[in-house]
Formats: sequence, C-alpha cells, structure tokens
Amino acid sequence: MEIVLATKNAGKVDELTAMMKEMDVNISSLIDHPEIPEIEETGATFLENARKKARCVAEFTGKYVLADDSGLEVEALGGLPGVTSARYAGESHDYKANNEKLLREMRSVPEGMRHAKFCCVMVLVAPDGKEWSTTGECLGTITRDLRGAGGFGYDPLFYVTEKNRTMAELAMDEKNEISHRGRALQDMMNILVEILSKSQQT
Ligand code: IMP
Repeated sequence: MEIVLATKNAGKVDELTAMMKEMDVNISSLIDHPEIPEIEETGATFLENARKKARCVAEFTGKYVLADDSGLEVEALGGLPGVTSARYAGESHDYKANNEKLLREMRSVPEGMRHAKFCCVMVLVAPDGKEWSTTGECLGTITRDLRGAGGFGYDPLFYVTEKNRTMAELAMDEKNEISHRGRALQDMMNILVEILSKSQQT
C-alpha cells in the first residue's frame, strides 16, 4: 500500500515515518509532491482541517492519504492557540515567535493554572473516498522557559506530566509513545492493519 502524508512539516514526517516503520507501506509526503498547491487550514476544528487536507491530496494523487491537524490548547487562554497554533504569532509560522508569544501571554498565570493539552485528529482517505478518523491527546503544563532541544514547535514549553520533562527533552521514541499524534496514529495503524489484511484477502 502507498500512503501519502498530507504534510510538508519535516518534523511530522520524521515522527510518522518512524512510527510506521514496521508496517508494509510505502510512505511519501507533500515534500515529494511539490506540484500540490498549499492547502489553507481554514476550518474551525482540527477535524475539519485534517479532512480538508486529506481529501484535497487524495484528489491530486489518487492514493491513500493520511492527514493530521494538531495544536496546543491552553486552559488559561480559553483553548488558544488551538487551530491557530501554527500561526499564533503571525502568518510566518515561526516556532520561535510563537513560543515567545505564548510565554508573554502566560507570564501572569500562576503555577497550578498552567494546564494545557496537545490535541491531534488524524484522517485517512482511501482512493475510493472512504474515510476514517482517530484522535489523540497529551496532557501537560506550560513552563516559564524553554527546555530541551528535541521535537519542534511548542515542545520546549510543554511539560509532560507523565514524563516529568518537557516534550523537547524526550527522545523521539519516548515522545511518540505518549504524544497526541502517537496516540492518534496507534489507533489509525490498527485501522490500516485491517485495511491491509482485507486487501490481501481479495
Ligand atoms: P499542524 O497540525 O501542522 O497545523 O500544526 C499546528 C501547529 O501546532 C504546529 O505548527 C506546532 O506549532 C503545533 N504542534 C502540533 N504538534 C506539535 C508537537 O508535537 N509539538 C509541538 N508543537 C506542535
């Protein structure tokens, strides 16, 4: 089976490819399909955005497409940055600027009120248009300074409660075990295994 990952984000491509390494699938991503135009994430929910990306790339490629939309929801900010996580500090999609803005917005929020979660919705679309979706979450708190050099995006500011470290201080395998995307992908891989076994029976 060939699967196209509907993302150009090299951090995500590395994570997803590593998580699917045991599966009998050929993986490519939008990095390998420069002919596909930019897909605007205009949806009000992670599901709407993931579905839009998956359907659009499936139309272009005619292959199975796996799309995810994810982001950080901070309780003290009423769920922001949420679906706007990538462009929180502006359209330049700059991780450093996003982290600086988050630190600024959270400056006066006391310990005990800094709860946050990473959320991910994953959508798989088949060449015939059939669709499956899964979700994953990872709970934590927002730190007061950047810690760790791994991962991407908000990872250095996201303290993972169950690991006692920031997401950026975890090795990639450790992050994938507990991350929002890892959890959504685990469920999606069970779906993929079923699809593969059905296609081998026919
Ligand atoms: P999207 O799913 O590509 O739209 O990503 C939205 C944004 O959420 C990213 O640009 C990051 O800022 C943030 N984000 C999503 N997943 C992660 C993660 O695993 N670590 C850190 N930031 C993330």
